[in-house]
Amino acid sequence: MNHVYVEELGKHTGSEVTIRGWLYNKRIKGKIAFLLVRDGTGIVQCVASKADVGEAAFATCDKLSQESSLAVTGTVRADERSPGGVEIGLKKIEVIAEAAPDYPIQIQDVVPEIGFLMQHRHLWLRSRKQWAILRVRAEIIRAIRDFFDQRGFTLVDSPILTPAACEGTTTLFNVDYFDDKAYLTQSGQLYAEAAAMAMGKVYCFGPTFRAEKSKTRKHLTEFWMVEPEVAFLDLNGLMELMEQFVSHIVARCLERRKEELKVLERDTTKLEKVRPPFPRVHYNDAVEKIRKKGVEFPWGEDFGAPHEEALMTDYDRPVLVHRFPAAVKAFYMQPDPEDAKHAMACDCLAPEGYGEIIGGSQRIHDLKLLEQRIAEHQLPIEPFEWYLDLRRYGTVPHSGFGLGVERTVAWITGTEHIRECVPFPRMLYKIYP
Ligand code: 4AD
Ligand code: MG
Repeated sequence: MNHVYVEELGKHTGSEVTIRGWLYNKRIKGKIAFLLVRDGTGIVQCVASKADVGEAAFATCDKLSQESSLAVTGTVRADERSPGGVEIGLKKIEVIAEAAPDYPIQIQDVVPEIGFLMQHRHLWLRSRKQWAILRVRAEIIRAIRDFFDQRGFTLVDSPILTPAACEGTTTLFNVDYFDDKAYLTQSGQLYAEAAAMAMGKVYCFGPTFRAEKSKTRKHLTEFWMVEPEVAFLDLNGLMELMEQFVSHIVARCLERRKEELKVLERDTTKLEKVRPPFPRVHYNDAVEKIRKKGVEFPWGEDFGAPHEEALMTDYDRPVLVHRFPAAVKAFYMQPDPEDAKHAMACDCLAPEGYGEIIGGSQRIHDLKLLEQRIAEHQLPIEPFEWYLDLRRYGTVPHSGFGLGVERTVAWITGTEHIRECVPFPRMLYKIYP
């Protein structure tokens, strides 16, 4: 048996191969059966004629239920119209396990409603579109790691269980921690800062948690975030890092995930425009632009989805909005030396309505100022003593950012809601399966 994966079939035209996978769909036309077989790397059409395979095998094809597992053997032949440019002339079929006939996500039916699909996420993953999204997600994660690894960053894992808030106390998940209280991490940033003082350029990458009570298409309670942190880097340098990074991820997907983006019917000409430099827009100018679109917006607030959308109508590539009002941002952000009302912060907004994918800033490196900010935010000082130590012993200006993986996947794949951009989404009142 010459076992081959579907994505490699192109190299085997003319040879006899075996594919192991699942029946995705089938069509019978008189004495010919067309089986669509998927194996996780792609889908291939297998054509069985009654004359070639015999009565018994043809009858098997005829009655086989969707999602039955099987091994098919046949000859690979070039076929212009097929995805991947090949099909298989079936010779032999071996059924490994017949699927129960009531597979809940039948291809032939009208698309089930989203609540139903979410309850069957464990099976929905097999559908072509979901498969394509998760393949792009895996590529994005690989591109993220390669970007930092190739530039001399050290990966430093941050803890999931933490004693204090990083991004505000309102979205913390509480955990019993023996006789104490702990929280699920909202961001690895504070630990990445400690690591940057040890290793210069670092990144942490893992799941983060926000007890968001919001039911939007952009919020999960558990999401993945990558957070680089760099010693001696200022806001300008940070913005350059952001645009290099985002451009690298997009280019990688265009290069290696063409087939998946095609399945998703993504307009890739829009992604091809994602190249540095990205426009930089001061918060004050952003407010002006939003108002000019007829959207009301009071100076001093953080942007919501409608404001991001209004601002982004003028742009066909990601935009870097910088110097947000300090009052609405986190306690650790460095004030703008030209106007302390503003923070040396920058968000990267994706075009086409996807909005914020990155939040970042230059950090306060002065001990006194940081102590003052912790007090102003009414945070307890004890859990931050270690963080203050970083300012006591050889403090330096430094900066970092966090990119949300699911929002990036949603944008690159053109997916409306981020619940489809993570294998098993966690949302308000939603934790099954
Ligand atoms: O802007 P945020 O809250 O920034 C931080 O957590 C910083 N500590 C990062 C840093 O500087 N190291 O979150 C960063 C990104 C957002 O831009 C967004 O992409 C994503 O994380 N994000 C979420 N994604 C899904 N669901 C949520 N509830 C999210 N909250 C933030
Ligand atoms: Mg943010």
